[in-house]
Amino acid sequence: MKIAVLPGDGIGPEIVAQAVKVLDVLKKDGMQIELEAAPIGGAGFDAAGDPLPEATLELARAADAVLLGAVGGPQYDRLPREKRPERGLLRIRKELNLFANLRPALLYPELAAASTLKPEVVSGLDIMIVRELTGDVYFGQPRGIEVRHGERVGFNTMLYAESEVRRVAHVAFGIAMKRGRKLCSVEKANVLECSELWKEVVIEVAQEYPEVELSHMYVDNAAMQLVRNPKQFDVIVTGNIFGDILSDEASMLSGSIGMLPSASLDQNDKGMYEPIHGSAPDIAGRDLANPLATILSVAMMYRYTFADMATADRIENAVKKVIAQGDRTGDIWTEGCRKVSCSRMGDAVVAAM
Ligand code: IPM
Ligand code: MG
Repeated sequence: MKIAVLPGDGIGPEIVAQAVKVLDVLKKDGMQIELEAAPIGGAGFDAAGDPLPEATLELARAADAVLLGAVGGPQYDRLPREKRPERGLLRIRKELNLFANLRPALLYPELAAASTLKPEVVSGLDIMIVRELTGDVYFGQPRGIEVRHGERVGFNTMLYAESEVRRVAHVAFGIAMKRGRKLCSVEKANVLECSELWKEVVIEVAQEYPEVELSHMYVDNAAMQLVRNPKQFDVIVTGNIFGDILSDEASMLSGSIGMLPSASLDQNDKGMYEPIHGSAPDIAGRDLANPLATILSVAMMYRYTFADMATADRIENAVKKVIAQGDRTGDIWTEGCRKVSCSRMGDAVVAAM
């Protein structure tokens, strides 16, 4: 198994280093794992003048899976759009055709108090958001800023081909079949033609999954329902921009955005794995970040790309154990728990394995 390791910017290198410790344990236990690192995002720009250097893309293409930290930082915000760290991330998703982004929102019972919502609202929470990742207003053409009638206008295009909706719908239905068999498709079909088509195609695909209970929700209502009664959801499938927003919202249900991993898969389950949080420049380099989302991303890698459920369980159980024994980075710390650094948290997971 060849894994491309792309630490990126900000806290990226710190959190990825903890995930690599976990991979080293697996290696010591006899697994064939080959790791190769390369720069992406601001680090890519610094190294090669490009947020997705050609060599990094080649490495990612050749690898069986990609582990990514995070990209972005204030020092890059003034670069031309094409050179910004976020472009590197968007391009690698597009180039590798990683159209299905799985973002679980799961609450560890011990972290109920870390959520800003009432414990009874979030306890037992287990949602999977399937976000389409290579289409929508993120990539639609035309886009730009230009002068019209003497003033500047900015514009983007929300666009989905039915084949794009169909393939992500199949992924979402497939996941729903393995879980609670409930799928909620989220769009804005009361206003947007793009959403109208989305909904039609999801309904067509549903014919092939009669056991799954399909519902539809407008995105504004979904945003509200996620904080009102999140446990009504099992699997959510939605487009790129709505999924971007709702997955950040859902992450806070689970106490901290620092807990949530993600998988971005192509048609053959090759994937890129990354925490859903960003590069947190404010705490970068201080050994304060929560590495658990990145470590849990490695678990997802074993589950989805390597189809090795036992190893995935092993990593997830180690994280559960560490949480249960009271180790907490600052973002999930509550009274009575032991505050640990990023690297100590990584060591604790290794010990629990
Ligand atoms: C995410 C991030 C990215 C996105 C940014 C960094 C481009 O917010 O992965 O959710 O918008 O997709
Ligand atoms: Mg986001």
